[in-house]
Amino acid sequence: MRKPLIAGNWKMNTNLSEATSLVQTMLPELDRIAGVEKVLCPPFISLVAVRELIKGTSVELGAQNMFSEDNGAYTGEVSPLMLIDLCEFVILGHSERRQYFAETDELVNKKVQKALDFGLTPILCVGERLEDNEAGRTEKIIKGQVQAALAGVNSTSHLVIAYEPIWAIGTGRAANGKQANATISLVRNTVASLWDSKSAQAIRIVYGGSVTGENIAEFIAEPEIDGALVGGASLKANEFVSIVSQTASLKST
Ligand code: 13P
Repeated sequence: MRKPLIAGNWKMNTNLSEATSLVQTMLPELDRIAGVEKVLCPPFISLVAVRELIKGTSVELGAQNMFSEDNGAYTGEVSPLMLIDLCEFVILGHSERRQYFAETDELVNKKVQKALDFGLTPILCVGERLEDNEAGRTEKIIKGQVQAALAGVNSTSHLVIAYEPIWAIGTGRAANGKQANATISLVRNTVASLWDSKSAQAIRIVYGGSVTGENIAEFIAEPEIDGALVGGASLKANEFVSIVSQTASLKST
């Protein structure tokens, strides 16, 4: 059985004091919810403070990005060596990184390799654009992204994949549960063809894109969907707690 995972991607929101107060508001309730892996991904500048706050609780920490080199003359970048004693997870290949910062499949692949080499668990994001979806190219695009990101990567259970259709991110237009389940199933089959089916069955594949307290149940009810990567709704303490607690009760039944 795969343990469900809910991660909150705060994106470029919250300064240090806002991040601290958001964690303080949601932590007592989050900590009490069992059966779900709970991951907060605040901006880099708040990682240290959030790590202190969640110490000794059941809540874990993730970064939103990472560079592919260990150290050196890369002004403004953050290396895996800086993250390993801070957090367990790192979001890689988010569509906003691909779209606004020109991250290529090749770079995402390097980052995934590097994160795994250092014992970080990548939350690898894949997703198709609206025009690809409408032209029936979803399967081809997603398969291609998964194959490219995992090229040369040995099988591991320390990998999470997030299927985030770009047209569903921040738009309020979520995929429906059945659509998301079908594409996630395709992701798993693609991983199985690269590795083997037992390894593909072991990794968590989650959905992301306009997930809310209102629609989480629709995704969690699907057998292939192991949780969610939540953007906007993860900035609202009550809603994020509700998403996690609904996941706990639905996946345990
Ligand atoms: P929203 O939940 O705001 O649509 O963002 C999804 C996302 O990109 C999470 O990484």
